Amino acid sequence: MAKKDIIDRNDIILLVDSFYQKVQQNNIIGHIFNQVVQVDWLHHLPKMYDFWESILFGKATYKGNPMLTHFDINKKAALKTEEFDAWKRLFFDTVDELFAGENAEIIKQKAQSIADLMHFKINTHNSKINIV
Ligand code: HEM
Repeated sequence: MAKKDIIDRNDIILLVDSFYQKVQQNNIIGHIFNQVVQVDWLHHLPKMYDFWESILFGKATYKGNPMLTHFDINKKAALKTEEFDAWKRLFFDTVDELFAGENAEIIKQKAQSIADLMHFKINTHNSKINIV
């Protein structure tokens, strides 16, 4: 059966739930969620539905500062190229397994650019270059 595109919040929920299932089992970044931060999933997942709905559909449901959150995480577990590559690979694989279409392409591009920006900011933050 042909895959459908991401068209509404229910699709985002399916994507996010499936993505974090994979994340939790991943041997490069799973422990950061499960052991280092001990994420409260009942709190985290709805926040991520809001985040991606805001990014993809322009709904102002997400309130927060992901960059600051990840600066904090990086103090406890270094977020480097290997970790970002694992995150991106899991995200792209999840999108491609479930969806196909214009929004599926857009959400991967957005994820890629936010991940790359986040990685860059963490690096410059670490080396104390003051351009963040
Ligand atoms: C190495 C890659 C990454 C790791 C290990 C990681 C890990 C985490 C963890 C553990 C949390 C939960 C923090 C908490 O509950 O206190 C979190 C939150 C979050 N992450 Fe990531 N993350 C990564 C990359 C990304 C990327 C690339 C994005 C966006 C495209 C992203 C978006 C978010 C958002 C929006 C939150 C919620 C922030 C908030 O408002 O509290 N993360 N991340």
